[in-house]
Amino acid sequence: MSLFPALRPIDNDLYVEVILQEDVPVVETSGHRPPEDLLELLKAAGVKTMHKCVSVRHALSAQEAGVDAVTLFGSEGGGHIGEYGLSTMILAPRAADALEVPILAAGGIADGRGLLAALALGADGVTIGTRLLVTEECPIHQNLKEALAAATELDTLPILGSLHNTLRAWKNPAALKVAELESSQADMREILALVAGTETKRMYQHGEVDAGVIACSQSIGIISETKPVYAVIDGMVREAAMIRDRLAA
Ligand SMILES: Cc1cc2nc3c(=O)[nH]c(=O)nc-3n(C[C@H](O)[C@H](O)[C@H](O)COP(=O)(O)O)c2cc1C
Repeated sequence: MSLFPALRPIDNDLYVEVILQEDVPVVETSGHRPPEDLLELLKAAGVKTMHKCVSVRHALSAQEAGVDAVTLFGSEGGGHIGEYGLSTMILAPRAADALEVPILAAGGIADGRGLLAALALGADGVTIGTRLLVTEECPIHQNLKEALAAATELDTLPILGSLHNTLRAWKNPAALKVAELESSQADMREILALVAGTETKRMYQHGEVDAGVIACSQSIGIISETKPVYAVIDGMVREAAMIRDRLAA
């Protein structure tokens, strides 16, 4: 559940109603400190809660609010990376030292090397996003999967910083247009029209890969093949265990 301010505000009560009806076991909130009443409602129904944030200060605040776990999201990741520019490499060990609840590391993790590194940094687990875009199950157009698989770590850029809502996105013509409008201090409405979601939907559904903006991590540089989700996760765990054993030897 995103707690960020939104163009089209989200009805959290309705979300909670569906979560409870459908017996969703875990809910991740992101953005602002999760409200205590929301957490209480979820906890009373046995739902585990996690909060995703981009600084240790916000992680401590979420812990104080009562979440079961916190995800620390580094700025190499795809999505709303915040304004601090802190990397997973620093956020994870800082949070591991500062927090009592379990922590997850997110941002830039796409294979077993990243998984093992995150565990070494003190994380109890990881959250992955971009790696799951290039999977057989992901319901985006094949053209987009192929374009992302061919992209490198240089093919992302942070946009929407001018609106204090920085998003790491795939560097396609739509994201470059947003960056250009921001640097020329264009009317906010012109920028918002490009990121409102209708163009992204066209890209997802019809494969017009230049049309919309899509969140994307620097980890895209180490993603080169569409795989089933099971193979991604299983491969990550196996690779991490192999490296651990090699290091132990
Ligand atoms: C296409 C895409 C859409 C995302 N949408 C959201 C979102 O709506 N809310 C949110 O909190 N995080 C969102 N994220 C962030 C992911 O949940 C996750 O934290 C992030 O992708 C982890 O970093 P990684 O991309 O390096 O794996 C999105 C990420 C991607 C790639």
